[in-house]
Amino acid sequence: MPAIAVIGAHWGDEGKGRIVDLLAQKVNMVVRYSGGDNAGHTVINPLGEFKLHLMPAGIFGPATCIIGNGVVVNPERLIEEIALVESHGVATGKLIVSDRANLIMPYHQLLDRLEETSRGAKAIGTTGRGIGPAFADKAARLGIRATDLLDRKYLRERLEAVLAEKNAIITGVYGEKPLSLETVFNQYIKYGERLGPHIRETSRIIREALERRDKVLLEGAQGTLLDPDFGTYPYTTSSSSLASAACLGVGISPSYLKEIYGVFKAYCTRVGAGPLPTELNDETGELIRQRGQEYGATTGRPRRCGWFDAVASRHSRLINGFTGAIITRLDILDSLKTLNICVGYRLNGGVTQDFPASIAQLENCQPVYEELPGWETDTGSIRQYRRLPLAARRYIARIEELISCPVTMISVGSSREQIIYRKQVIYN
Ligand code: IMO
Ligand code: MG
Repeated sequence: MPAIAVIGAHWGDEGKGRIVDLLAQKVNMVVRYSGGDNAGHTVINPLGEFKLHLMPAGIFGPATCIIGNGVVVNPERLIEEIALVESHGVATGKLIVSDRANLIMPYHQLLDRLEETSRGAKAIGTTGRGIGPAFADKAARLGIRATDLLDRKYLRERLEAVLAEKNAIITGVYGEKPLSLETVFNQYIKYGERLGPHIRETSRIIREALERRDKVLLEGAQGTLLDPDFGTYPYTTSSSSLASAACLGVGISPSYLKEIYGVFKAYCTRVGAGPLPTELNDETGELIRQRGQEYGATTGRPRRCGWFDAVASRHSRLINGFTGAIITRLDILDSLKTLNICVGYRLNGGVTQDFPASIAQLENCQPVYEELPGWETDTGSIRQYRRLPLAARRYIARIEELISCPVTMISVGSSREQIIYRKQVIYN
């Protein structure tokens, strides 16, 4: 009865989608537990290339796919993604949405944009999908949930009350036009009609699967360094991306969680504002961006690229208690002569291995690098660890040592088979 979590260990975009698509072949259920359609999970498989934002990346396999209570659901986006995968012959009858999931409403998207504009130079660089305002409403008890779509009378009453408050802010604070109750209500009633068959109580479905000894994969979104508690706050997202949030976000006991995989990119990237201590504003950064096509799957923005940061990665390993590390995109580094790994931060005249809470301190951290030789060999066709060039194995081994976590899988390309297994992943 194991639950297995796949968690972003950096600032998102680590390749969780391709890993979940692969591991989903071995499990009975895949469940998203946090975030919303700010996620952009790229999956390349025999059916094509997909950029999924809400749909669990397991949808292409035999597993039941669930969007858990911890996710904020944009119904319009979900309907679009259902249509997208169905147009490739994928059945979506196995998709279930938690009735407790909060919904993204049109005013969340509007307020996300208005708040960002008013932040000016201090903008977070959000995805503009309404994520922050939706999670704020959940905490403020102003949320509208999936279950509400199924109760016309309640939905209207609730929307009337909430929209009055939102319109007061939209008009009074931002001087924008109010949203119409009728328009939003009619739109959401339609969404309810379309999504109704998918909306159910899900924590019991997941618990019963675990009790049957089915394997349940909990699919993380975003990454540990975007987590509002342990990331680079306030330059973070608004829901927890951590392993400890996974159980809450799907409604199961933490005692079920047996394997926790952290997905680390072989280098670091970040999209949006906030500290990235190892950022490379030079030719190497540009080379990584071009070779890795490092552009946001959700917004198309160029991703900022930098060396592997073992201080941030170790912080992530400790907070999540990873039982295994998965390193993605090793092949992107194939052409480099030398590589750097950040092994400490120089701060206030000393060197620290701790990841500071203070954003001002993080912005002042100067990385201390250890230089390693590159392998200057194509790794894309390699499938066995021992066949990797010695320099690549040394790079992996050094990361393993610095983050104190065994590396269990390494990806050397974006297609399903471009993967090296070092240990069995997903036990019985
Ligand atoms: P996946 O699941 C990378 C970033 C945004 C911004 C900050 C806040 O694909 O790894 P938000 O819209 O959440 O309020 O934006 O978080 N961000 C991500 N960056 N990958 C993601 O998801 C992200 N989801 C949010 O760029 O800096
Ligand atoms: Mg992404």
